[in-house]
Amino acid sequence: MVRLRIILLLAVLSLSLPLMGQKYENLGRTPQMGWNSWNKFASNINENLIKETADLMASKGLLDAGYVYLNLDDCWHGERDSLGFISENGEKFPSGMKALGEYIHSKGLKFGIYSDAGCKTCGGHTGSLGHEYQDAVTYARWGVDYLKYDWCNTKDINPIGAYKLMRDALRFAGRPVFFSICEWGDNKPWLWAQEVGHSWRTTGDIFSCFDCIKDYGTWKSYGVLQILDKQEGLRKYAGPGHWNDPDMLEVGNGMSVNEDRAHFTMWCMLAAPLILGNDLATMSQQTLDIITNKEVIAIDQDSLGVQGFRAASSDGLEFWLKPLAGKEWAFCILNRSTDDKSCTIDWNRFNLKDSLSGMSTSFDKISYKVRDLWVKANAGTTDGNRTVIVRGHDVLLYRLCEGSAKSSVSINVPLHQGWLWYGAQKPEIKAVVYNNSDKPVVEELRLDLATDKREDIGKFVKRVKVAPHDSSEVMFGFGVKPGFYRVRLSASDGWEKRFNIGYEPERIVSPVDAQPDLREFWDKAKSDLSKIAPDYSLTLLEDKSTDKRKVYMVKMLSLDSVVISGYYVTPVKPGKYPALIGYMGYGSKPWCPDPDSNPGFVEFVLSVRGQALNEPDNKYGDWIRWNLQDRDKYYYRGAYMDLVRAVDFVASRREVDTLHIFAEGGSQGGAFTLAACALDHRICAAAPFIPFLSDFPDYFRIVHWPAEPVFAEQKRLGLSDEGLYKTLSYFDIKNLAGWIKAPILMAFGLQDDVCPPHTNFAGYNQITSQKSFICYPLKGHDVESDWWQKRMEFFSKFLNK
Ligand code: GLA
Repeated sequence: MVRLRIILLLAVLSLSLPLMGQKYENLGRTPQMGWNSWNKFASNINENLIKETADLMASKGLLDAGYVYLNLDDCWHGERDSLGFISENGEKFPSGMKALGEYIHSKGLKFGIYSDAGCKTCGGHTGSLGHEYQDAVTYARWGVDYLKYDWCNTKDINPIGAYKLMRDALRFAGRPVFFSICEWGDNKPWLWAQEVGHSWRTTGDIFSCFDCIKDYGTWKSYGVLQILDKQEGLRKYAGPGHWNDPDMLEVGNGMSVNEDRAHFTMWCMLAAPLILGNDLATMSQQTLDIITNKEVIAIDQDSLGVQGFRAASSDGLEFWLKPLAGKEWAFCILNRSTDDKSCTIDWNRFNLKDSLSGMSTSFDKISYKVRDLWVKANAGTTDGNRTVIVRGHDVLLYRLCEGSAKSSVSINVPLHQGWLWYGAQKPEIKAVVYNNSDKPVVEELRLDLATDKREDIGKFVKRVKVAPHDSSEVMFGFGVKPGFYRVRLSASDGWEKRFNIGYEPERIVSPVDAQPDLREFWDKAKSDLSKIAPDYSLTLLEDKSTDKRKVYMVKMLSLDSVVISGYYVTPVKPGKYPALIGYMGYGSKPWCPDPDSNPGFVEFVLSVRGQALNEPDNKYGDWIRWNLQDRDKYYYRGAYMDLVRAVDFVASRREVDTLHIFAEGGSQGGAFTLAACALDHRICAAAPFIPFLSDFPDYFRIVHWPAEPVFAEQKRLGLSDEGLYKTLSYFDIKNLAGWIKAPILMAFGLQDDVCPPHTNFAGYNQITSQKSFICYPLKGHDVESDWWQKRMEFFSKFLNK
């Protein structure tokens, strides 16, 4: 029997001779994808782990995303039998490899295995040296589809010969096997392995670190950036059926989410094999989201099969491009540093021809659509520069697609022009039309003007003739009443830009609609509050405190005996300090002041009832519509009294200079700041921004939220419009603003669609105390970062008095 087997083997061998010298073609036309046991489990592998991994690859969408190979790495081996045939370790794999292969195949996956060209594997198990044909035949019998072939213990062996020998053995065995050469780049396999295997390792082993090297004396392992740098100059050797392999993925093995994302992205830019190496049973949703982002995977798997390249680098940022099929490109910015970095992408800087693919970016002639692959959203076109922020150790990845010839005309609305106009000034909008072609062009520009409630009030059309390679300015001027306006500027070739402008915001009339008993209503609320003893309790938060300021969690009782909380920060050094009360945005997450900023202040950030720190006990639903039918039970009656209670707390503290209590907040916090100033004159000055909760009847006509949930509740309660707006009038900032005595500095975003500027001014224009405002023309529901400095300068003026 034994002799018969050997004779048969030799007979088949001789019959197969003409086929030798060929690897299996048609495998790995795109870089291989799968999972391998080594990076996470090393020698701790067994049948159950592999079967469970097979189940998870199918059930978690990995197979669907393209991960088809399930590969066992080192340490599956048993001994050779008396004839030299290899077997599995029977304790780890009691059902045998053939059964395991069948299980893997039953899930729609392919089965991969590992061996070594030397006498022993790197883990000290039986290698294939001298048994190449026997092993190849055994693998075929087990149903193996993939072989990773390592290079330990190969002294005096010729690498090209050794890998060709195994290639021939696999061919002889007759089952198509993907041949993954793992020789660590020691013998420059990119120069000789194209005919031998389907991929070759280019470096030593990876380990789970973004930017490190581990030195073991005789060998080293490398972090993501180190491996990336070792790929320099190798792209020309890779292509369909023969890939550079910068080693397996470490995504989900301990790096931060942004590092994992950057690692995965760069491997895709390199058209690298995507072989996962994490524990699929315990991985986080974030890990799964990274490894199954199909649009990112498509960059790796692109049918053109051309590796990306570093096109430029500066200040720790690298700019990579990868040519894709269909004349598209992947564009990636890698931030190698740990600092977040802002940069302006000037596409023309990347005007280049890639000699390997023969493709040109032609950003000067072609306009690409930009798709942000991690944000999963369309992001405009490559017309014009764009400024982006790339987080530390993170990436930005765009697909530049559907390139179309750039229009011969480009239009710019200079952003430094006016945005708010006063008195005799008429709003004027300037557009500049550039002719990029060799012929004169005539362009028709149209400006549509509407109120912020979207009522059309004017349409202006202008034609302009522009000489070749020249530009012309077009001016639109018009007279309007005080208010905020929506501008839509468009051109005959489809270009358009939308933005808001304003004229005389302080003269916008938003009549107050207060009920005659507004004052009694709030006096009663304050009197009810004064009957509740606050019972302040302070708990020191050691982990948040520093040697400069201590942080406490404060709890206290407010109206209706509701417990409310906040973070209180006070300087360690005894003394009297001004206080800054911060009121929070609608449904904002709990926020604690930085104990190292504002060292000369006491700070208190209040969470009103049901929100932020109090959210675990929230019984008010989505707050704004809680008990809308009854002004005495409406959510904001209690919440506004919480604002006063915060002032009570701060004023009760020995370390607070009670003549200098300031208040601030944005959005709902902006409204709270104004309401607190109206209801409590202990506040010395306040800086609200983008304030909410004002001018309800107009507000609800301009934007959908929170009008829709409020209207739904109105319907459910059967309230008339009059009833609804009557309740809300007690809480409307514009009705309370006349009571404010403190000086106010307000900021607003001109492009704000959440709390439109018109509603900010409804309250602001009722204030009779000293007041001023800052307009941030390009901001929506937000302020520019200089606001924090400006509001501090404003508060400081009162301290120096
Ligand atoms: C080498 C390889 C690794 C892994 C181990 C197994 O180090 O480069 O990828 O296969 O051997 O021992």
